[in-house]
Amino acid sequence: MQIQWFPGHMAKTRKMMEENIRLVDVVVEVIDARAPYSSKNPYLDKLWQKRPRVIALNKTDLADPSITALWKKYYLEQGYSVVAIDAAHNKGIREITPAVEALIEQRDKERGSKKAGTRTIKMMITGIPNVGKSTVVNAVAKRGGAAKTGNKPGVTRDKQWIKVSDHVMLLDTPGILWPKFENNETGLNLAFIGSISDDVVNLYQLASELLDRLKGPYGSRLVGRYGIDPSVLDKSGDIILEEIGRKRGHLFKGGQVDTDRTAVMVLDEFRSGKLNRISLEVPKGREGNKDAQSESRS
Ligand code: G4P
Repeated sequence: MQIQWFPGHMAKTRKMMEENIRLVDVVVEVIDARAPYSSKNPYLDKLWQKRPRVIALNKTDLADPSITALWKKYYLEQGYSVVAIDAAHNKGIREITPAVEALIEQRDKERGSKKAGTRTIKMMITGIPNVGKSTVVNAVAKRGGAAKTGNKPGVTRDKQWIKVSDHVMLLDTPGILWPKFENNETGLNLAFIGSISDDVVNLYQLASELLDRLKGPYGSRLVGRYGIDPSVLDKSGDIILEEIGRKRGHLFKGGQVDTDRTAVMVLDEFRSGKLNRISLEVPKGREGNKDAQSESRS
């Protein structure tokens, strides 16, 4: 399945991002722990370059923990500061502000700045759609007591800042990045995790593709949840989908399986964690770590 996405407002989004990014010292890029490669937008690397950035691996409650640990290590090795969080359940949020402070302190020290440890740091949360940016902003604001500082004249015109610690202010609106489309696999991963609207994809094909990817590493979960025969896992995703529909009684009057209804259910169950914790991507070069994977996927 080929996914096309033409965001009409991409130019506007880009302009806003470029404007906002000038106002801040640190960017926190939120990515989805189930697909930490696909959900990271390389445009930010161009725009922000090597300036201080924290990667927040969000939705860790939905991802395979041992694979999330590999991703954390992977991005740390690439020089990012990384926090693993579950914003919906307020886990790991307290690590974000200290990570931001540490980055700026380190930068100031490297530059020999006298302001080290005393300056007010401005940060913004950014990421592609549906990774949990707003949830992270709210969670960070709540920890900081949600004290809005109001509009300030000059550089902060029209912007609301939230004081989240003695030294850190958060821009209250997250920066939106667009999903990347470097290849079809990336596009599919983004559709699986809901970062590409379901309105622009064929849900029957999408669910079939998802099952094709889950049947190997997570086949026992599919058998356990839907009661399908393990031998069905040798078949293609569309056949597995049909079998799941049959088992669930998603049938038309004539006994034919309602595959559209089944597709919506399978996608919803994957997205909401009913199939337990699943990671769609493993860091490049670490695919050989089958032990960690099979342990956590069984
Ligand atoms: P965005 O600003 O990046 O577009 O994302 P947003 O915060 O709106 O979050 C998108 C969806 O992801 C929301 O669910 C939100 O609750 C959920 N979410 C955010 N962080 C986490 C997390 O760490 N774990 C889990 N499991 N879910 C998370 P929704 O169904 O669209 O809305 P709602 O029903 O929760 O209100």
